[in-house]
Order: sequence, then structure tokens, then C-alpha cells
Amino acid sequence: MNLAKRRGFAFQSSEIYGGLASCWDYGPVGVELKRNVKEAWWREMVTTRSDIVGIDCSILMHPRVWEASGHVAGFTDPLVDCKKCKGRFRADKLMDAQCPMKPSKHPGECDGELTEARQFNLMFKTFMGPVEDTANVVFMRPETAQGIFVNFLNVMNSSRQKIPFGVAQIGKSFRNEITPGNFLFRTREFEQMEMEFFVRPGEDDHWYEYWREQRFNWYIKYGIRKERLRLRDHDKDELAHYAKGCVDVEYEFPFGWSELEGIANRTDFDLRRHSEYSGKDLSYYDDETKERFLPYVVEPAAGADRATLAFLVDAYDEDEADGEVRAVLRFHPRIAPVKAAVFPLMRKDGQPERAMEILDILRPYFPVQYDQAGSIGRRYRRQDEIGTPFGITVDHQTMQDNTVTLRDRDTMQQERMPVDRLVDELRKRIEL
Ligand code: GAP
Repeated sequence: MNLAKRRGFAFQSSEIYGGLASCWDYGPVGVELKRNVKEAWWREMVTTRSDIVGIDCSILMHPRVWEASGHVAGFTDPLVDCKKCKGRFRADKLMDAQCPMKPSKHPGECDGELTEARQFNLMFKTFMGPVEDTANVVFMRPETAQGIFVNFLNVMNSSRQKIPFGVAQIGKSFRNEITPGNFLFRTREFEQMEMEFFVRPGEDDHWYEYWREQRFNWYIKYGIRKERLRLRDHDKDELAHYAKGCVDVEYEFPFGWSELEGIANRTDFDLRRHSEYSGKDLSYYDDETKERFLPYVVEPAAGADRATLAFLVDAYDEDEADGEVRAVLRFHPRIAPVKAAVFPLMRKDGQPERAMEILDILRPYFPVQYDQAGSIGRRYRRQDEIGTPFGITVDHQTMQDNTVTLRDRDTMQQERMPVDRLVDELRKRIEL
């Protein structure tokens, strides 16, 4: 967290006013990191496939959506109050919570008495229009999935997709979590990356297996260590009200194994409920078999912030360079916020000007930085700390034969190459 703040990955929201609990702002390199995570997801789930299309729905939706989805009645967590300190805690997560009294204990372990648990709905409410009465209440969506279900017919008719096909969305969701925490892990405002895959009933088990494997491998493909990932099947009593089966992709965070993403078999629950509540027939007609049915849905639902946190934590490493400990983020080149930094070795003999020209050659293709301040070692260290995979140094020889050195962040090896080759070489190494 210290590095994240110091180098501009994430800052506490509204910090100059004392901060707003569990809300975070992504800084200049953090925003690039998160964009790359979302881009890697979108490329995998939409751009490189012909059977999945994208959508971007509004956050505010008709209130009936949340009645049909079951969120008004059932999207709750059990809440208890401590009669002594007035703290509020999730009854099922008391061991994860800290009592505000000193010495710090878990709620209920001091002599404060806890109230009976009551159900607390996690949806944020607001009002649509100038009148603040119950008729104008709308909810901030607690998941992006429902926008996909209510647009099922629109997408199918406009994109001429045939089952099996999927609809993907990345966007903000809001939950009034009782116990947010662990930095970007659990917040009240967060971004989800969800895909609803519509399949023929009976083929759902096959697609459930397929998406479990695909999603697990996606994290490894982009550099997460396999030994820090696992799949954990939900027990029957853990399953959401709509799910026939659910598995979590979990990551071993510094605070323990925790969910990165859930893959659920949602059956036909959502389309059935929206058909009932809206009065619109959301069934699918198969031209070939002349059958009409309600599709089943297999849903991989990931969190963009949690994934970003996992990539950040997993990339962090310390080793030795030039006899000093260096902190280095070993991001996969695609995930790295800055792809290359250009340095003039000396601030004279035309080297800064030549370095700026090289920066201009690279800028249309990659996010790049220029740095001429301090020793070359310090400049490398600064880039290592934000995980820049490549360093390009302009030196005396560059001025004679137009070659530069290309330094690899992980091996720290340098290779000399002509400036003309740089774009192709970087592209090749980033595309890995
Ligand atoms: N549509 C299904 C659904 O929303 P979920 O398991 O509640 O399922 C999916 O959420 C993912 O969204 C989680 O695996 C997590 O990555 C992310 N997520 C959920 N609540 C979050 C929160 N309070 N803060 C950050 N990310 C969250």
C-alpha cells in the first residue's frame, strides 16, 4: 500500500478531507494498470471470439428489475450491533472484523453484548427526479449482470447470435457492504467484468466446466503465479438463490485465500423471472430443431479491482541490483502500466534531444516515459518500482551509429539494437 501510494497506483478517496472509508482513487499508473486488466479481459472474452458480444448498460435501472432478480427480497447480509461500542458487524464474518475498542479484539470477545442478527439489504438507494419519496426510489446496480438479462432480446435480435452465445459487460457496481476492507479488495463502489453465456438446457454442465477452466487459465496467462491460485467449489448452503453450481477462483492474498471471481450456473432463473415480471417472452426459438426454450446461463463474474489488486500483489518482488535491495513489480508486459522508459545517459552532447525523438517514435504505439533526473541506476530503480518492462538508454554510441541499449527489467540484461528496430522488438516482447 505504501508503494501504491508513493508511486501513484491508488490513493485514499477525498484524502485531504480525512478520507472516505474504503473508497479509493486510481493514480496515473494505477489507472493504466486497471485499464490493461480490463483490456486483457475484454480481448479474451469479446474481441478474440465470435460467440460473445459486448454491452454497456446504465447503472440505474427500473426498480422492478431488482424485484424480479431477487435482490430486493434477498440481497442481504446478517448485521449485528455491539451495544457497548455501537460498532456494526457482519454476523457471519465476526472473526474477520476488529472491535474499535482498545485493546483491539474481535466483536463479541470484549464484554460488549451483540444484538440479534437482522437482515440488512446491501443495495444503495437514491431518488430519480426532484421528489424524494418512495415512488421515486431507484437502486444503484449491485451487479452488472441484470443489464444483460433485460437486454437478452435486444442483443439477440440486433447481433443475430445463435445459442450458445454470450454477452459481456464491464462497469461499476455498488454494494453497501457492512465490512469493506483490505484495500481494493472489498469496497462499496467497484467495477465488475461479467459475462452471461446463454446455452441450451442440458448443455449447461459442459459449459460450466469449460468456463471454470478458461477463467482459471486467464489469470495464469497474464502472469499470476499458479501456486497462488485455486478453484474452490461452493458448498450447497453457500450457493446464491439462483445458482445450481458455483466455483470461486481464489487467490492467496497477504490476508489469506479470497475470491477473485465466481463462475456460476444460474440456470434459467433470471430469464424466467424477467419473463414473469415484465410480461415479455424471453424464450429462444431454435430454427434448426424447431424448439422453443428458456436458455440456461453460465456466468463468469470477476472484479476488475480485485484482479488489479491480485496482479499488483503478485508482481511485487524484492531482489538485489548494484549491491542494493530493489523493489520491482514483475508485471506481464501487457499488464504493465508503462511499457518502456527512455533515458539519455548524459544530459549533454545532444543525448536528451535524441532521447526525446525516440520517445516520439514510440509514443503512438506504447505508453512510454522519459526520465533524465539522477544517476542511470536510480532511473532504472524508479521504473522497476512501477513495473516498466523495458528501459532504453541513449548514450555516446547512439550519436554515432543510431543504436541504443534495451534493458530487460527482470534479467537486467542490456542488448544493443538499432533505433529502427525498437517498435517491432517491443511489440514482439509485449505480445508474448
Ligand atoms: N453477478 C454475480 C455476482 O455479482 P459476486 O460473486 O457477488 O457475483 C462477482 O461478484 C465479483 O465481483 C466478485 O468475485 C468480486 O471480484 C467482485 N466484487 C463483488 N463485491 C465486491 C466488493 N464489495 N468490492 C470489490 N469487488 C467486489
